[in-house]
Amino acid sequence: GASTLGALAGCGSQLPGSDDDEGREVTPRSTVTSEPDSSVSLTAGAGTIQPGPDVSTSNWLYDEQFPGPELRVQEGDVLSVELTNDLEAETTIHWHGVPVPNPVDGVPGVTQEPIAPGETFEYRFRAEPAGTYFYHSHVGLQLDRGLLGPLIVEERDPHVEYDREYVVVLDDYLPDEPQLPSDGGRGGGGMGGGMGGGGMMGDVRPPYDGLLINGRLPEDPQTFGVTEGERIRFRFVNAGSATVFGVRIAGHEMTVTHADGRPVDPVDVDSFAFGAGERYDVVVEATNPGRWFVQADALDGNEPPARAVVEYEGTDGTNTPQVPSSPGDQLQYSDLQAISSLDGVSGSPDRTFDLTLSRGGGQSYTWTIDGQTYPDADPLRIRPGEHVRIRMTNQSPVVHPMHLHGHFFQVGNAVKDTVMVPGHRGQVTLDFHADNPGRWLFHCHNLYHLDAGMARIVKYV
Ligand code: C2O
Ligand code: CU
Repeated sequence: GASTLGALAGCGSQLPGSDDDEGREVTPRSTVTSEPDSSVSLTAGAGTIQPGPDVSTSNWLYDEQFPGPELRVQEGDVLSVELTNDLEAETTIHWHGVPVPNPVDGVPGVTQEPIAPGETFEYRFRAEPAGTYFYHSHVGLQLDRGLLGPLIVEERDPHVEYDREYVVVLDDYLPDEPQLPSDGGRGGGGMGGGMGGGGMMGDVRPPYDGLLINGRLPEDPQTFGVTEGERIRFRFVNAGSATVFGVRIAGHEMTVTHADGRPVDPVDVDSFAFGAGERYDVVVEATNPGRWFVQADALDGNEPPARAVVEYEGTDGTNTPQVPSSPGDQLQYSDLQAISSLDGVSGSPDRTFDLTLSRGGGQSYTWTIDGQTYPDADPLRIRPGEHVRIRMTNQSPVVHPMHLHGHFFQVGNAVKDTVMVPGHRGQVTLDFHADNPGRWLFHCHNLYHLDAGMARIVKYV
């Protein structure tokens, strides 16, 4: 509807002078001080999860839940989240995809001091634009210990009609403490191919104990109940740390309606692939009664696929669900056409960065952007109001899902905040409008690559 589109476009158009060449001023998004419409308290602490029958392991959790509690607000609401740190380590929360004011972005040492054990910190921001997001710790490898949860900002006037919705959080699951390969922990031997030998720049992927949908192993899948004739909206979140998931729903086509929360012209597909940090909303018409698997395969791993079950009302719940057949038509980025394109990124850019993504040389486990490892890396300096372009070339054989904090970007005709750069010299160009001053992280959302240096600060000067 018109109000949704207006609000989406508003991000750039309300900024004075952002559209002409004279005034390059943008107004910094300051910390929100108005009374919250919605207040939530979260506690980060050690806890136990039971992802399947007879499986019980210790992880780090929000409110002892895995995934963490779903936060759901209306577009434009002021959300206050008070985080209490009951961990034995420092922590923060990052609101992945939401263009929040810089001071509440949750990047330790960059936008805030990390929250010490025993302390409490309040994040307050206006939840907009509407979309499917998630929140997670931004300290070290804490995300892969379980510190993550969905954040849904509902449209006041959705552009798609649906009768019911389910949030589907995909994750790769590792009990206990994850470690970088160089630390000699789980990451050491036995990880995915190509590590070490003869200058080969292969990847390293932890030997995950399983792939999860909403915290459940495939042996004990969640059931999504549906009624014949309904339109079901599924909000898929790839909250994994190192997995590209390929998603299908047996017996059904999916209509992709949103990419990273941004509305797109509907696209019908049989499957889509997405990297860590990406989200897709799809609508499925319930016209094929029975029991069907929602299945997410690790495209770069060997674990059994994550599964949930779509179960029509009135069907025999003891029948074995159907598995999806061939991948069929797979979504491509080039299929995505944003309903509302970004302001401030038409024409030629004011500033362009050409960046190479690659494994670092030498003995230690590093990943680099243009040969540099974060935090000892030069910031990408930009000015307020600029149209900024980043061109990336991937010199490694593995996918890098690159995520920009604090901004959406245009990639092709899509508007996203996370984009996969394919391996073997894959190239992706993204454009964004420098409309949210601050210091923002730009990084690979493969947590092990991030922790091994694959990040830069985008710094307004
Ligand atoms: Cu999910 Cu730096 O982000
Ligand atoms: Cu990467």
